[in-house]
Amino acid sequence: MKILRTVEELRQWSRTARAAGRSVGLVPTMGALHAGHASLMRAAAAQCAAVAVSVFVNPTQFGPNEDFAQYPRSFDADCALAERTGAEAVFAPPVEEIYPAGASTYVDVEGLSGRLDGASRPGHFRGVATVVTKLMIAAEADRAYFGQKDAAQVAVLRRMVKDLRLATEVVVCPIVREADGLALSSRNVYLSPAERTQALVLNRAVRTVEKLFAAGEREARVLIEAARAVFAAEPAARVDYIELVDWTTLEPVERAAAGSLFAVAAWVGTTRLIDNAVLL
Ligand code: PAF
Repeated sequence: MKILRTVEELRQWSRTARAAGRSVGLVPTMGALHAGHASLMRAAAAQCAAVAVSVFVNPTQFGPNEDFAQYPRSFDADCALAERTGAEAVFAPPVEEIYPAGASTYVDVEGLSGRLDGASRPGHFRGVATVVTKLMIAAEADRAYFGQKDAAQVAVLRRMVKDLRLATEVVVCPIVREADGLALSSRNVYLSPAERTQALVLNRAVRTVEKLFAAGEREARVLIEAARAVFAAEPAARVDYIELVDWTTLEPVERAAAGSLFAVAAWVGTTRLIDNAVLL
């Protein structure tokens, strides 16, 4: 496993691979890798000849009162998992490599960045778009892999790649869940055993809406009310948002259609969790 620490090392690794006729995949992560990340790395390894995983806890996507300092870090285990899933390199730069002293250039995807998670986490998507742009420019990858769990992030990054005409294709992989339905997240480690059980309410709400949609219900108001009723039965969870939106614009829709995004965010204790489904 190659450990790359500088943008120049990542760029050279990528150029060497491409010069040898190998396609390059990038899996951007903040580390604390779990089976959800493993699925991204496996998809990348299946589609690209050379895969790099970035492990960088990006300070600019955390708000002042968020968990940047406590965010789980497990670098050795991350490298071992990356190696097992077929990655060739781990890019783990120090903060000043991504944000050199005096750095003042940011990427802001206007409109989209203020919706869903962007509404409750001001500045979050500006940080995400900025770091992913920097990673894409440095890695010169053919494809970059993201999980559908962060569905609003996916919409922001698709728009950003389109607007900036970046040469990297965004590939989205399905949500990976525990056997009982909890969507995998690096933040699940914050949950106490009781909260871990309470957190299942997110998936119950998502499944309820999926079932109603499959049964023919299309009224957004009815679908959202049904999800609210599921949350009402689990008062330990505090809803942040429950929304039915167009997955491209993140604008609310009045009627659900195939491809609409149903997304929820809720606090369980001090942990904010998200889940979603693309209605089919
Ligand atoms: O999804 C994440 O883990 C992060 O938002 C990302 C895309 C790696 C940017 O820091």
